[in-house]
This record gives sequence, structure tokens and C-alpha cells, in this order.
Amino acid sequence: MEIRLLQHSDYSGVREIYKAVSNEYLQYQRQTSGEVYDPVRPDLETSQLDFYVATHCSFAAIENERLLGVLLAQPLRWINDWDKVLWLEYIAVQAAHRRKGIGLALISAAKDFARKHDIKGLFATLNVDNEESKSLLLKAKFEVKDWRIASYSA
Ligand SMILES: CC(C)(COP(=O)(O)OP(=O)(O)OC[C@H]1O[C@@H](n2cnc3c(N)ncnc32)[C@H](O)[C@@H]1OP(=O)(O)O)[C@@H](O)C(=O)NCCC(=O)NCCS
Repeated sequence: MEIRLLQHSDYSGVREIYKAVSNEYLQYQRQTSGEVYDPVRPDLETSQLDFYVATHCSFAAIENERLLGVLLAQPLRWINDWDKVLWLEYIAVQAAHRRKGIGLALISAAKDFARKHDIKGLFATLNVDNEESKSLLLKAKFEVKDWRIASYSA
């Protein structure tokens, strides 16, 4: 398995993982509460993927030319008293390939990028319902604080 920068040829693989993970989440919501309380967008737009290719800090996990996992990230300027940070927007691994260290390997690539570019902090949001995401971030030595996010829908 190889971790390399995300490239245009990965788009169909990223979309496949994205759709499968979105369906898993919708199914989880229906099973646990009988309804969808947090709808997700059905697909990623090409312009969004173009953006994440252009950040040069989004990574793909590849084996036998197949995309097994993806991490979409972007550098941000001055948040939470950190001068420069890497914002981890999305990480997902194909269900059949989980618990083999791919998630951690993708995060390690982001940490390496941060070190090389004098970026001191990595940030991610996580859904409190998402145990695997919390466990992954704790294993990757992130502090998981109980902060809330305020959002406004314009
Ligand atoms: C979260 C996710 C990316 C983890 O990817 P992964 O390749 O399976 O992660 P790793 O194999 O590197 O796991 C590293 C550690 O994370 C923790 N972890 C990962 N999945 C876990 C799970 N289902 N339950 C408990 N802990 C888990 C464990 O500590 C694991 O170490 P271990 O296997 O030695 O116990 C993957 O489960 C996934 O794609 N989930 C759906 C999408 C998602 O929820 N993304 C995060 C929010 S955007």
C-alpha cells in the first residue's frame, strides 16, 4: 500500500468511497433514531476535488492501482491562536480495508506535510456519534476536546 498526493485520476475512487460512507451514515441514523436528522450531500463536486488536489496536502492510499482511502486537507491561517494549521476535512477508508492502519497512515502523511511546512497544528472536527473517528484521532495523538461548533446557514 502506498500513500501519495491526491490526483485527478483518483476522483472516481474518492466518489465511490464518499457515497458508500454517506450511505453508511444515513443507515446509522435510521437505525438509531428511525429518521435522518443529519442529511449529507449525495456526492462530491469536481470543483471540490480540484480544490483539494490543489492544496497539495490531500492524500490517497493506493494498492494495486485502487484507491483504498482518502484524506482531504487544506492549510488555514490563524485559527484558535495557532498561526498556521492543517485542517483535516475528510478522511475515509473503504469498509473492507478498515483496521489495517490505512487511516493512521493517511494522518501520518498529513503530519509529515505539516512538519515540512512549519505548520504546528492539525485540526479536525468529529461527530460525537462517530466512535471510530474519535478512536482514530486519539490513536493519532490528537487531543479531543469537548468544544462546540457554531454554524450559520446563509
Ligand atoms: C475512521 C476511519 C477513517 C478509520 O480508518 P482505518 O483505516 O480503519 O483506521 P486504522 O486502521 O488506521 O485504525 C487506527 C486506530 O483507530 C481506532 N479505530 C479505527 N476504527 C475503529 C473502530 N471501528 N472502532 C474502534 N476504534 C477504531 C483504533 O484505535 C485503531 O487502532 P487498532 O486497529 O490498532 O485498534 C474508517 O473507519 C472510516 O472510513 N470510517 C467511515 C468514515 C468516517 O467516519 N470518517 C471520519 C469522519 S469524516
